[in-house]
Amino acid sequence: MSTSLLSNPVLYREPANKEFFREASIGLLQPQKTLPCKFLYDDQGSDLFNQICDLDEYYPTRTETAILRDNIREIAEVIGPGCRLVEFGSGTSTKTRMLLEHLADLASYTPIDISSAQLFDSCEQLGTEFPALEILPLAADYTDSLHLPESETPAQKVVAFFPGSTIGNFEPHEAVSFLRRIACLCGQHGGLLIGVDLIKDRRRLEAAYNDRKGVTAAFNLNLLARANRELGSDFDLGSFRHQAIYDEALGRIEMRLISLQPQVVRVANQEFFFDEDEYITTEYSYKYSLPKFTKLAQSAGFEVLNVWVDRNKLFSVQYLRVRSDGAVNR
Ligand code: AVJ
Repeated sequence: MSTSLLSNPVLYREPANKEFFREASIGLLQPQKTLPCKFLYDDQGSDLFNQICDLDEYYPTRTETAILRDNIREIAEVIGPGCRLVEFGSGTSTKTRMLLEHLADLASYTPIDISSAQLFDSCEQLGTEFPALEILPLAADYTDSLHLPESETPAQKVVAFFPGSTIGNFEPHEAVSFLRRIACLCGQHGGLLIGVDLIKDRRRLEAAYNDRKGVTAAFNLNLLARANRELGSDFDLGSFRHQAIYDEALGRIEMRLISLQPQVVRVANQEFFFDEDEYITTEYSYKYSLPKFTKLAQSAGFEVLNVWVDRNKLFSVQYLRVRSDGAVNR
């Protein structure tokens, strides 16, 4: 009698995280293998990212914080009173505290973050610091369609806050669609306070994403560790190395995980082959000139009301207002 299929069960466990599994399989099947950068931010990845923010080489966090601090009164004035503040990718909400302290008659605050542990920790903390403020957190992937939680306090307008130059993680055409969705969400009189990293010399950029302590490398490699944890894959973390390169023509940093040798990696029931030096693209970080970002904002239905930059022109904070004519400049 031939062996029955049932007597020979395939050892296959459903991956714990279906969405990650689906997107990872699609990305790894591309001719240029990719893994979506949003999966960098599990609890461990978010911890590592917070460490990146304190690195000497990583200028964006420090510079953006200083721009906000130095201009907070003017920023609060431009935004105006009575807004509902919605933050995309709130993390530890460090920069937000300045806004919460200075915005006049703030109606409510909705932080949105994909890392729920971090989100609820920081809301608990904020609740004690701002006891009168209505805080309505949303644990979500903000690239999905969003419904803001019902607020008890009426607001005059919705203002989005999207710091950190996370807009740079989108390809420019995706950035336009994302900003359009924010414009829709904010509606009439609404606006967006956004951090945008600026084009600068290659040495400075590459140093910021290839730090000497190797924190960015650990952050990048955590994506493979996370896949092993949540997808049951067998990435050998010692067989990949981190690299970030600046593509000047495209104005973007590209983070890679490079295979040190030919190897096969198993992800659930699929096998993926790597040649030596073949790499997975894990994140883009686009840098903009001010005129280029203005065009991008306009094509998403915003007008640029104000731009604040640091003395060395490393980084910008911009206030965009939803265009009242509803026109989208294509
Ligand atoms: C998520 C946009 C804040 O692109 O600079 C930092 C992520 N990646 N180092 C960036 C990141 C590697 C970061 N932001």
